[in-house]
Amino acid sequence: MKIFNHISELQTALNTHRQDGQNIGFVPTMGNLHDGHLSLVNIAKAHADIVVVSIFVNPTQFGVGEDFDSYPRTLDADVAKLDTAGVDYVFAPSVDEMYPSYPPSVQVLSGEITKILCGKSRPTHFDGVGLVVSKLFNIVRPDVAVFGKKDYQQLAIIRQLNDELNFGIDIIGGEIVRADDGLALSSRNGYLTASERAIAPNLQRLLVQMADELKQFGTDGISALVQKYTDLINQTGFVVDYLAVYNDKLHTPKANDKHLVLLVAAYLGKARLLDNLEIKWQ
Ligand code: PAF
Repeated sequence: MKIFNHISELQTALNTHRQDGQNIGFVPTMGNLHDGHLSLVNIAKAHADIVVVSIFVNPTQFGVGEDFDSYPRTLDADVAKLDTAGVDYVFAPSVDEMYPSYPPSVQVLSGEITKILCGKSRPTHFDGVGLVVSKLFNIVRPDVAVFGKKDYQQLAIIRQLNDELNFGIDIIGGEIVRADDGLALSSRNGYLTASERAIAPNLQRLLVQMADELKQFGTDGISALVQKYTDLINQTGFVVDYLAVYNDKLHTPKANDKHLVLLVAAYLGKARLLDNLEIKWQ
């Protein structure tokens, strides 16, 4: 495995593979890797000859007062995990390499889908994600890119970006990887104290319960259900940021939708945890 800090070096290496007819799989990350990321690497390996993982804590997707400075940077441990996982190239650029002039003057504008859910409490977040992912797509020029479904809204936005900007990349969503007690793995779980960590699995437990009720009673009572489960999640010690039901394109569900998603973001102490659950009808 090789590690590159510079765009041109990575591109030279990848061009050789392209000339040899090999296809390229890409997993963008911000490091602090856990088994969820490694599952994305495995998906990329199954779909591509050469796998590139980027590690870049992207400043443009953090709002003022958010955890950009304190975001865990664990490059050595990350590189060791990726080496074991059989990754070919790690791309770990500096902020200067990615953004020679800061703040960047180009914005990848995103529509309504960036204003709902996480976009309400993090209004500039998805503009930053859209920009860095577009830059990384142009740098790596992958055939396949893999993103985790835990960040369901991010995945939906990237699918739109890929379509509307004609990147032509095969975007694959990797299933959420959970701890044994059900908590979705996340780099930010490290912010939880021991007592918060014990409370944290209630988020998924209540989502599962809510999905069961939804399946039983149908979509008519969604707003009452959202209110009920917002209260229940708050009662376990979280502060709910949002709990919502959308279809898989993140549009308001209609009666004939066959694929719904329950999405939640909730604070538990310092950590803001995300989770979601898909419901598919035949
Ligand atoms: O999901 C993440 O870790 C980040 O938002 C991403 C896609 C790597 C962009 O910085």
